[in-house]
Amino acid sequence: MADEKAIMRVLSGETLDPPPIWVMRQAGRYLPEYRETRAQANGFLDLCYTPDLAVEVTLQPIRRYGFDASILFSDILVLPDALGRNVRFVEGEGPRLDPIRADEVAGLDPQRMHEHLAPVYETVTRLRAELPASTTLLGFCGAPWTIATYMIAGQGTPDQAPARLFGYKHRAEMLQMLDLIADMSAEYLVRQLDSGADAVQVFDSWSGVLDDVSFDAFCVKPVKRIVDKVRASKPDARIIGFPKGAGALYRGYREATGIDALGLDWTVPLDFAAELQREGPVQGNLDPLRVVAGRIAIKDGVERILEKLGNGPLIFNLGHGITPQANPEDMGYLVDCVRGNA
Ligand code: CP3
Repeated sequence: MADEKAIMRVLSGETLDPPPIWVMRQAGRYLPEYRETRAQANGFLDLCYTPDLAVEVTLQPIRRYGFDASILFSDILVLPDALGRNVRFVEGEGPRLDPIRADEVAGLDPQRMHEHLAPVYETVTRLRAELPASTTLLGFCGAPWTIATYMIAGQGTPDQAPARLFGYKHRAEMLQMLDLIADMSAEYLVRQLDSGADAVQVFDSWSGVLDDVSFDAFCVKPVKRIVDKVRASKPDARIIGFPKGAGALYRGYREATGIDALGLDWTVPLDFAAELQREGPVQGNLDPLRVVAGRIAIKDGVERILEKLGNGPLIFNLGHGITPQANPEDMGYLVDCVRGNA
């Protein structure tokens, strides 16, 4: 069944023309219908934990654009929330958490995670029932390093310096925290797959701020730990890895972690991307600001990507999430360009 879905076929190594497309943050503030549903929730986390509303916003971009994948509407920070780290989303600013100290790491207790995350699993189950049969349902989690950066700084920062410092000064606690998050994440992904997700993506949004040895210890090893644990219970699980900003360290990441497909940010040169694609499927990598800039920038960018990556296994996507400034009509134009209708 799953094999009839375009994205699952690409994840198995097939080349499709046109390539399937979905967009990171496809459910989000650029859509008026999202803002309307969002206003009914009691804050962003309440939106994530209310299946009626989460299902609705997940389906909105599918109805509007007919994307080939639907991504569960939630956030990577529900995991630290399940650990009791007091996660809040401040209007117009972003996430805030209670910054964790090294001496608190040993006390982190994942015992109540599945109880806490039960509404997310319910959202996945309901989505599976409501989505068109040809639409791939993607689950996701944050990579341990990216989650840890927010747990340590208590917020996003320009270069996640607090977490990098923590990694040098408290290495044992950092590794312990990454292992704990990896084990929780593996269970979390298995539950999403059990609830009806076809495949999953691991978002490592902050992997680009580390030197090479730290990248190996804090990004590659924990993601491999997730992949190994997921496959121990689901040998056929399809996993997309997205080590945003990894640059030259993209080389070898697929093999070292065991992921199936490599998510590329927009700074990855297309000739290098084509090399990476010789080893397996890639996803990406249009600069999200091209969608904000409008149709000429969109068309140029799509044509270059299709020329360089269209002859191999490709899932078309942006190189990071769509921003609130994008015009919904231009998102439609992007889909038309990729599908050869514009
Ligand atoms: O449509 C989808 O892609 C699915 C939903 C999704 C969200 N966040 C919804 C969201 C996914 C997959 C994420 C992942 C996520 N969350 C990441 C990894 C990907 C990335 O963007 O790098 C990270 C780092 C987070 C943490 C996070 N959540 C931040 C830093 C912020 C604030 C920045 C912002 O864009 O507001 C969020 C909030 C958030 N997550 C929003 C959405 C739609 C906006 C919140 C709102 O509606 O007010």
